[in-house]
Amino acid sequence: MGLLEGKIAVVTGGAQGIGLAIAKKYVEQGAKVVLGDLDLAATEAAVKELGGEDVARAVTCNVTDYGQVEALLNTAVEVWGKLDIVVNNAGITRDATMRKMTEEQFDQVIAVHLKGCWNGTKAASLIMREQGFGAIVNMSSISGKVGMIGQTNYSAAKAGIVGLTKAAAKEIAHQGVRVNAIQPGLIRTAMTEAMPQKAWDQKMTEIPMGRAGEPEEIANVATFYASDLSSYMTGTVAEVTGGRLL
Ligand SMILES: NC(=O)c1ccc[n+]([C@@H]2O[C@H](COP(=O)([O-])OP(=O)(O)OC[C@H]3O[C@@H](n4cnc5c(N)ncnc54)[C@H](O)[C@@H]3O)[C@@H](O)[C@H]2O)c1
Repeated sequence: MGLLEGKIAVVTGGAQGIGLAIAKKYVEQGAKVVLGDLDLAATEAAVKELGGEDVARAVTCNVTDYGQVEALLNTAVEVWGKLDIVVNNAGITRDATMRKMTEEQFDQVIAVHLKGCWNGTKAASLIMREQGFGAIVNMSSISGKVGMIGQTNYSAAKAGIVGLTKAAAKEIAHQGVRVNAIQPGLIRTAMTEAMPQKAWDQKMTEIPMGRAGEPEEIANVATFYASDLSSYMTGTVAEVTGGRLL
């Protein structure tokens, strides 16, 4: 019996990278998943990879738009009757030092991460409080704990996600809904592979375990937070960093 047998999950940014790894792990553990992402073709390809429409569905969703997030979560309820798990994972980077960062780059990153995560947490909580159960997992970053040069936008958004997670956790704990956050360190995905080699090498020197993490290692923690193994945890932040920046 899987850890998520019979559970229904939504994962934003689920077409690739960490989101897709989480969806794979959830399906392996017995869940059905709805993937929300900007790119429908890529999301449909991800659904095929997960085993087709018996276990997964693709929905076009821009997480910056509350109505689209609401429609995404409603799809899970319409297709499979309930909503056990929401993972707010969609993300982008627009790195630049403050001297060069434009207002637009700041606003875009805040909109996708912080507003996107609020949209997902609010919409999920409205469904879950009625049901009396649910687990929400928000994807922060170690950048939100320490602040990274070139990421005033991203660090602010990821730190904001921690505050949002804790406040939401307190508001809805008594309704049977848990809200937790994950702070990944350096994980090997398209987002980090776009980084210049020099930046990658510099980050590697900060990791006591001496290696980057794999998306599956974040997916394992997202499974823990979604499952009853973490039934007495809410408002917490898990650092999954190989010991980096403790
Ligand atoms: N890779 C890392 O090292 C790392 C570290 C810390 C945190 N994170 C966080 O993990 C999450 C996933 O990152 P990843 O490395 O898998 O990135 P990725 O670029 O591989 O995947 C991100 C996904 O989000 C989707 N997306 C972007 N904007 C969206 C929007 N407005 N609406 C819906 N979907 C949108 C993209 O289409 C893509 O499929 C992000 O929140 C990221 O900030 C990643």
